[in-house]
Amino acid sequence: MSELGSRASRPWWRDAVTYQIYPRSFADSNGDGIGDIEGIRSRLPYLKKLGIDAIWISPWYPSPQHDHGYDVSDYMDIEPDYGTLADADLLIKQAHNLGIKLIIDIVPNHTSNEHKWFVQALAAKPGSLERNRYIFRDGKGPNGDLPPNNWEAVFGGCAWERVIEADGKAGQWYLHLFAIEQPDLNWENPEVISHMEDVLKFWLDRGVDGFRIDVAHGMFKEAGLPDVRTDPEAVMLGTEHKPFWDQEGVHDIYRSWRAIFDSYPGDRMAVAEAWVSPASRIARYVRPDELQNSFNFEMLTTLWQAQQIRQKIDNSIQALAEVGAPTSWVFNNHDVVRSLDRLDLGLTNHADTTFSRQGDASELNIARGTLRARSAALMMLALPGGAYLYQGEELAVPEVRDIPPDRLTDPRWRMSGFQDRGRDGCRVPIPWTSRPAGAFGFSSDDSLRPDQAWLPQSDWWGKYSVDSQDGIEGSTLSMYRQALAIRKAEIGLGDGPMEWIQAGKDIVAFKRPGDFACYINFGLAFELPRKSVILISSAPLSGQSLPTDTAVWVRLIS
Ligand code: NOJ
Repeated sequence: MSELGSRASRPWWRDAVTYQIYPRSFADSNGDGIGDIEGIRSRLPYLKKLGIDAIWISPWYPSPQHDHGYDVSDYMDIEPDYGTLADADLLIKQAHNLGIKLIIDIVPNHTSNEHKWFVQALAAKPGSLERNRYIFRDGKGPNGDLPPNNWEAVFGGCAWERVIEADGKAGQWYLHLFAIEQPDLNWENPEVISHMEDVLKFWLDRGVDGFRIDVAHGMFKEAGLPDVRTDPEAVMLGTEHKPFWDQEGVHDIYRSWRAIFDSYPGDRMAVAEAWVSPASRIARYVRPDELQNSFNFEMLTTLWQAQQIRQKIDNSIQALAEVGAPTSWVFNNHDVVRSLDRLDLGLTNHADTTFSRQGDASELNIARGTLRARSAALMMLALPGGAYLYQGEELAVPEVRDIPPDRLTDPRWRMSGFQDRGRDGCRVPIPWTSRPAGAFGFSSDDSLRPDQAWLPQSDWWGKYSVDSQDGIEGSTLSMYRQALAIRKAEIGLGDGPMEWIQAGKDIVAFKRPGDFACYINFGLAFELPRKSVILISSAPLSGQSLPTDTAVWVRLIS
């Protein structure tokens, strides 16, 4: 196994462990039941102690919150519920003082319907410059009352909404690939391109280290906006043509964005949220003159099964090696059912990761799910490349299944005709204390009850709290802290080579430089090599025997 240069000689984003903060749900400093920037700032010591390298903050811009900030009404300001630009500046500065990088979300595919551009577009005439910033079309049919094509919104229902024109009559339609309140921008319009460049510079000037690009495979739509193929053959083969994803035009944009990042000091970067496959398509986003990272979502769609996981690791690493980019592993984020539930219930595709389609949830075995989520974490942190953690995974919180229907807020709930409960179950505010006061410590105001947080916390939520795990040997929080500390100290972890160890069909095992090895057991108890020293395990071992659903890091002694 050859070694790359030392970690200090590589750009930080090749190895970074980045912690995703969903600002509404992280920490509330002013007692309104909604998380905020001051709350994040107050928890920086916690993040430092956890041992992460960077934080990514989900959208913090002014927004009517139809999709909790992914509907942006002003890209150059801060949502008043979260604070002010001065608060953001202070957070960036203090994170940097602690040696923590900070990246923010950028949402280029669509704005909010309350963005001034969209308000102007509605007031303007068909064919106007104002409408041309979005994707407006006349409808089909004699009165134009059929949508311009057959595209469906990701959250459910038709992807087109008809507007009322100045004469009071139904008129054109606009495209929204997500919620009705999220009109798609027209990326063929140079004004859109240059505004988004200004937005990047605005935040780079304020010191952010980079961006997470929302729907990075969207933005460009195929010329003529052709229908999605719905013929039985295409549906059966899964080759329905998606004329709105992964179009060539996005790569020109990323090349020009890369030039902007490179014009700033200090390894500024971006990570693409591109739900594309196979891995070779993802690799195109991280070619040397494009973006630095692209989330690797393979593990969000895997069964807890050794062979499948080995295959996904191989495919990902090979595809990215061809363009010289590191892999960026993801096991959790704010869009998917928590890994504990997923890995136990065997949820294997993107659609299944939302609550309503997850099979029989009553079969969830929390103990087994916890073992698997913890093993998966040790596997992720030992694999080559960087990793993105999502708040709460270091506490092994499960998906919250008992949010009352009248408190659900995800636009999926409404747009699916109240069939799909959506993603609120992984967004419940973090339990910092086991006492219910202040919504389990989420809020600085002790009088706030758990059901008064913006998403209600269930009675049982406190048992996963930070304070009940802090300093407790064997807790998930202690495991993450210890693993991140070992990862920093090990010369062979992070970016660099790996080599498979053949240890049987139910074992995923690999070596990293420095005589380091990771074993994950998917089958019956397994004997580790006699000459190996245990560095950390995801559950107690008995001697050298690795139990089912357990992972271990060892030093191999020759
Ligand atoms: C992906 C984001 O992660 C998700 O939360 C959001 O709903 C959609 N993009 C639309 O912006």
